[in-house]
Amino acid sequence: MKKVVISGSGLFTPPNAVSNEELVEAFNAYVNNWNRDNASAIEAGELEPLAESSAEFILKASGIRQRFLMDKSGVLDPARMAPFLPERGNEELSVQAEMGVAAAREAMQAAGRLAEDIDMVLVACSNMQRPYPAVSIEIQQALGINGYGFDMNVACSSATFGIQTAVNAVQSGQARAVLVISPEICSAHLNFRDRDSHFIFGDACTAVVVEAADSAVSAKRFEVLGTRLATVFSNNIRNNFGFLNRCDERGIGQPDKLFVQQGRKVFKEVCPMVGEHIVGHLESLDIAPSGVGRFWLHQANLSMNHLISRRVLGREASEAEAPVILDRYANTSSAGSIIAFHLHGDGLAAGDVGVICSFGAGYSVGSVVVKKC
Ligand code: COA
Repeated sequence: MKKVVISGSGLFTPPNAVSNEELVEAFNAYVNNWNRDNASAIEAGELEPLAESSAEFILKASGIRQRFLMDKSGVLDPARMAPFLPERGNEELSVQAEMGVAAAREAMQAAGRLAEDIDMVLVACSNMQRPYPAVSIEIQQALGINGYGFDMNVACSSATFGIQTAVNAVQSGQARAVLVISPEICSAHLNFRDRDSHFIFGDACTAVVVEAADSAVSAKRFEVLGTRLATVFSNNIRNNFGFLNRCDERGIGQPDKLFVQQGRKVFKEVCPMVGEHIVGHLESLDIAPSGVGRFWLHQANLSMNHLISRRVLGREASEAEAPVILDRYANTSSAGSIIAFHLHGDGLAAGDVGVICSFGAGYSVGSVVVKKC
């Protein structure tokens, strides 16, 4: 089988950092306004008052300290609580494509690749800003790449599922090199009025170049030793937004048309699934968990990652072994594990093994085992 490498990665970070304190201040202002506006119904026992959020709870429950957002002013306006991203004309580069182009350029530069070297562009992320034309094709055109592109969505696991698709395309000879791009605007599907989840997500875009090992030219590259994907249906993370919404007006604007989760259930069900998935994948490659130098895990919740590393290693992983980026970026959906890979890929010696692992809605789990070249 043809050897395949990840030969470069790139990251676009939006300019607006928002701390837990800022987010909570806006949320609590919304809560107090709502309780004031509904005071008589609350007093009459017809409505429950809304409860305030707290920055201490957020840090303790998730490990998140701040996030980056594409727009901050709309999110922090208690009367709006959604990003303001003005619509663009059809002749302008769309916002998701703009993020994708920035991350892709950095990944191509790291890989030492030009547009003419790439044959395939995959956009793999949780939400596309429109059904068609595919955002990947818009990015392909903006970068001047020939060949083909398509969009795919496996929620938080999109990037690892995308990497497997890219590996297959390179191994089968369909593409010499593939860009896998994950432009996540999570703030646009997060319900900033929901106390249970208003702090969870941030925005970012990542990109990786996947290509044949024998022709790769970059200094820093990782051979893909194996990929493994798994899905099991669950309603515990769900978003009912879609093209059928207009066919029943009663549902338009309801909270289920944004991200909704049963956080506790997700925690309990997904951690063991991911632990077993990684151990099984490593076993199939004859690699002991103790022989893994780095785990670039999905970045949703710090306690989740601690639990997963305990299941895989039988002990707590050090921060050098399982780097954390969710404190600064929050959950950036499919971009999270790739941000960890991009920012914490150094310090491994040739031959050292690492695991990129993502998990989330579906449920879905994807792992990519790599070896530093
Ligand atoms: N501020 C203050 N208190 C809050 C709060 C907030 N924003 N949100 C919830 N609470 C309270 C609850 O009311 C509850 O109070 P009670 O014990 O008096 O009933 C308490 O905190 C615990 O709430 P719970 O929802 O059980 O918190 P948790 O410890 O499960 O943490 C998550 C919540 C979402 C951080 C956690 O469940 C999680 O990360 N789950 C996995 C999420 C995930 O990975 N999703 C994947 C998405 S891709």
